[in-house]
Amino acid sequence: MCLEGGCGACIVTVKGIHPASQEKQTWAVNSCLTNVYSCHGLDIITIEGVGNKKDGYHVTQKRLADLNGTQCGYCSPGMVMNMFR
Ligand code: FES
Repeated sequence: MCLEGGCGACIVTVKGIHPASQEKQTWAVNSCLTNVYSCHGLDIITIEGVGNKKDGYHVTQKRLADLNGTQCGYCSPGMVMNMFR
């Protein structure tokens, strides 16, 4: 992990009231650039929460793997977190 917002390995999905628009939204954030105090009241979903080996993979994860969309493994979780719903 780069810890500077460059690789995408740490991207998580956040659900809650968007701080700028005040509307209920779902968006992706780089967790390495997000202050933990700004997460109060938000639901956070990690790549393991979307799908995993034990419980089964999400359709977005399956498609990315089946259609050879994966790359080095650092950015692939970030791509899934941006695409899944
Ligand atoms: S660790 Fe690379 S973007 Fe957060």
